[in-house]
Amino acid sequence: MEVAGGMRKASSHASMAGAAAGDPDDFDLTRLLNHRPRINVDRQRSFDDRSLAEHSISGTASRGGGAYMESYESMYSPGGGLRSLCGTPASSRLSFEPHPLVFEAWDALRRSLVCFRGQPLGTIAAVDHSSDEVLNYDQVFVRDFVPSALAFLMNGEPEIVKNFLLKTLLLQGWEKRIDRFKLGEGAMPASFKVLKDPKRGVEKLVADFGESAIGRVAPVDSGFWWIILLRAYTKSTGDLSLAESPECQKGIRLIMNQCLAEGFDTFPTLLCADGCCMIDRRMGVYGYPMEIQVLFFMALRCAVVMLKPDAAEGKETMERIATRLHALSYHMRSYFWLDFQQLNDVYRYKTEEYSHTAVNKFNVIPESIPDWVFDFMPSRGGYFVGNVSPARMDFRWFALGNFVAILASLATPEQSAAIMDLVEERWEDLIGEMPLKISFPAIEAHEWQIVTGCDPKNTRWSYHNGGSWPVLLWLLTAACIKTGRLKIARRAIELAEARLARDGWPEYYDGKLGRYVGKQARKLQTWSVAGYLVAKMMLEDPSHLGMISLEDDKAIKPVLQRSASWPA
Ligand code: GLC
Repeated sequence: MEVAGGMRKASSHASMAGAAAGDPDDFDLTRLLNHRPRINVDRQRSFDDRSLAEHSISGTASRGGGAYMESYESMYSPGGGLRSLCGTPASSRLSFEPHPLVFEAWDALRRSLVCFRGQPLGTIAAVDHSSDEVLNYDQVFVRDFVPSALAFLMNGEPEIVKNFLLKTLLLQGWEKRIDRFKLGEGAMPASFKVLKDPKRGVEKLVADFGESAIGRVAPVDSGFWWIILLRAYTKSTGDLSLAESPECQKGIRLIMNQCLAEGFDTFPTLLCADGCCMIDRRMGVYGYPMEIQVLFFMALRCAVVMLKPDAAEGKETMERIATRLHALSYHMRSYFWLDFQQLNDVYRYKTEEYSHTAVNKFNVIPESIPDWVFDFMPSRGGYFVGNVSPARMDFRWFALGNFVAILASLATPEQSAAIMDLVEERWEDLIGEMPLKISFPAIEAHEWQIVTGCDPKNTRWSYHNGGSWPVLLWLLTAACIKTGRLKIARRAIELAEARLARDGWPEYYDGKLGRYVGKQARKLQTWSVAGYLVAKMMLEDPSHLGMISLEDDKAIKPVLQRSASWPA
């Protein structure tokens, strides 16, 4: 097969040591692109609707007759529903006037496009418009590209997403070293960029797997986002050939091998270094950060529906995933969930309980509950806390993880509704004047010194430390659509529309209410632009939600009743 041949050629180059030798330059993307996607709507439905039960230890995956249809899909025509009209402003198809910002946003998004050998390959993190030549932040970040990719998919432009998925897959094949230490095979880069050699007239890719990143942290989230995006591409185009190619199957398996590896763990959550996700600086998010656990859960669920049982190690990997999903969902729903009742229980915890009958399993000392939580917690509402590990609960709110938990159906329907209730009840704190807070509250003074290592970029109410990130608007909107709380999304989008373009699409805002453009915020930040576009397109056509949302899987058991799991 032409596709496989092309990729094999590239990966044999890539397996040679060193970045230069690993350069997959001679891989010709155009050959793949000429290969027309295989559209198979029926098949795609069953592909996605396969229930986890079908992958469980004894089950062989049956592909027929999906158990349920995703609710929004049933409202629209098959194959991804209506195409968004946002991207074609001049089009006569429009039956209404789109917001003028939409035109501006598409223009900005297209300006951030990066080409490699004549093919669009991704979007750079930010375009500095203060100079024509200098491109500020000219790397394509894997996580940053996700909202751009969704915007292109929603607008019926899947080729760029396919290019991106294939190129990053080839980068995964590079040998990755930090000093003398070799990174796991499955690791995906945080970012890559296109380097031009004007003398030789060639372009090559340079990737960063953490060996250049500040703090030398590998991005644990990149591989998860890659899998989530592959499923979004498949779902939106109906093109199964990419996900089912031996190369993608192998890529998924390598990521799975890395995160399912057995070690000394006593929990099903992933142990991580600080700064290995969107918050990529020291912020006390080491240990078992909720954002990573939720992305891990979503990636596991996407992987299990895309893996082919008959591919090499396919069935075995699917079984390992199914086992992990059961344990992970139980752990997260039980121990990371906090609402008024649970807070009251923790407040009254006994400590130093030994034996398997312990109620306070992680020996959380009630005196460690910060004062702010008691005021912050409404009677109606709840959320997944930032971290749970021995004697440590990080009670902070983190937006990304909570909204992805809704999209992945890690949150039960009751928990999803409670998260949205919290957003409504704590609007000033979590949305303020510019949506929306990446984390809440900020850490200050001595705690800031200890936790961040005196990081001047992460001072209180700035950047990752209680700053407001417009990119998160797409996740809020998706969660709103899934839970039927459209009013929240509309209100938040209106706030963003009032300022975002006027302020030049900054990366983040500072201050308790997010009133000030961030101190070091770059302008024309691509994911601020794309986050807005995706939010608008999803509201316009809610069937788009299907590419980024997973329905509740009945085979993942809901958490046991407290009375059963936590004996009094
Ligand atoms: C910052 C953000 C990170 C993002 C990168 C590129 O480092 O913390 O999440 O990927 O900028 O925009």
